[in-house]
Amino acid sequence: MTIPVTRPSRPQTHPSRPQTHPDHPDHPDHPDHPSHPITRPAAQVHFGVFFQGVNHTTIWSDPESGSQTDFATFERVIRTAERGLFDAFFLGEGLRLRESRGALHDLDVVGRPDAITQLAALAAITTHIGLVATQNTTYNDPADLARRLQSLDVLSGGRAAWNVVTTDNAWTGANFRRGGYLDHALRYERAQGQLNVARQIWDAFPDSADGAGSPGSSDGGVAHVSEHSDLFDVELDPTTPRSPQGHPVIFQAGDSPQGRDFAAANADVIFSRHGSVLAEALEFAADVRRRAVAAGRPEDDVQIFPGTGIIVGDTPAEAEEKARWVRWNQVTPATALSTVGNIWGEDLSGYDPDGPLPAHDPVVEELGGERGSATTGARTREIAAQWRALAEAEHLSIRELVVRNSSERGFQGTPAAVAEDLVRWVRTGAVDGFNISPWIVPSGLDDIVDKVVPELQERGAYPASYTGTTLRENLGLRAPLTRRAAVGAA
Ligand SMILES: Cc1cc2nc3c(=O)[nH]c(=O)nc-3n(C[C@H](O)[C@H](O)[C@H](O)COP(=O)(O)O)c2cc1C
Repeated sequence: MTIPVTRPSRPQTHPSRPQTHPDHPDHPDHPDHPSHPITRPAAQVHFGVFFQGVNHTTIWSDPESGSQTDFATFERVIRTAERGLFDAFFLGEGLRLRESRGALHDLDVVGRPDAITQLAALAAITTHIGLVATQNTTYNDPADLARRLQSLDVLSGGRAAWNVVTTDNAWTGANFRRGGYLDHALRYERAQGQLNVARQIWDAFPDSADGAGSPGSSDGGVAHVSEHSDLFDVELDPTTPRSPQGHPVIFQAGDSPQGRDFAAANADVIFSRHGSVLAEALEFAADVRRRAVAAGRPEDDVQIFPGTGIIVGDTPAEAEEKARWVRWNQVTPATALSTVGNIWGEDLSGYDPDGPLPAHDPVVEELGGERGSATTGARTREIAAQWRALAEAEHLSIRELVVRNSSERGFQGTPAAVAEDLVRWVRTGAVDGFNISPWIVPSGLDDIVDKVVPELQERGAYPASYTGTTLRENLGLRAPLTRRAAVGAA
């Protein structure tokens, strides 16, 4: 990336406050910095790459920005990630173009191929990196989805993972015969039922003599799966044996109390939203661990990977300048207006992005039967009030406010400073790894792999090679929850 010599069209009145900046409360030199004890001095940093596909954080205007659908793009990103010993290549899921109040999100039109299909193709050109497919439980059917995920797991030699989501919008459901949108509690009930059926399917083939779930073994006969409830009717003799890692690894993304309980009871890894402020990440981790113990699991059984961004420069000043440029270019005037408009619940495209927030309070609808967005109802009011207070305190325009909020996300600094921060996050027990979203595709991981990874390795906080061949091994996970008795795992 070449940073243009021209400054942002309207310089920020308040520079970003990254972790490595002494103004940020996470910085060790900040007077408000709480001391977070190092509880896991030998813990290793793990990386995944979150290939977003559709988003406004990729800087499309940069000449280096490539296609989001060419196989060559996926190939370049995953090969770089594997060269950098990343554990996972992670794909979100969107089954229909997103919209707000009936208007499509322009940036979504870049497209998004089906995740499992894409990951199957990428399995063929990689050897170790994990392949994580986000798949929703609200509109998929369990037997079909379990089979497709297990197929990816078998064909990749035990590298597949399922990021379980319930999906928070109604328009996705209108793609399907059942249509519409399920109540939040019912979505999680369905998610649990779906996962239970999937596990029965994955466990239907018997273990080999050593109990390790060797592929292809069917000497003891295949168990019949029969599940009949209000949610599912499944009668099935499964067709696919277990992979070398037993089951696909289970990721989860959903942050409500029900979502956290679901993760605590089921997930191997949480893809979390809590990757900006260390104190908040620690609080989230403590909450998840409490819930895991309440669900009868060891407290370290659920790993946490927040989504994040990383921006490095060879000097602190260069990193800061680059970060400012990135943040400003991520938040175009249209993005700023649509971000604020989503919270205000109205079309603000006629507003001046360089002007103040609307004088009136948001027009808020309570959750209805067709919309399930996390940012509706009371939560919307709360966010709007926080934004207004921040904008007034710091005299921010709409665009400056959105830039300011986005500057709280992620890590920036020299490679050494970023490495120090990442190690601190992992060794205080706040997270187990990071799911990194590059701000440019396909070259956005280059600096991280070439500059940050060696700094982590020098600190003894990152492996020098993959430790195993399956995703479960590389993440250091225990056996699948329903296989533990069979394989004698703790
Ligand atoms: C970090 C994160 C990433 C998510 N990614 C997706 C996604 O790619 N596709 C999707 O349909 N939902 C995604 N979701 C939303 C989930 O569908 C989630 O289940 C929804 O927010 C409702 O659950 P909750 O109320 O527990 O948060 C994501 C949620 C989080 C927290």
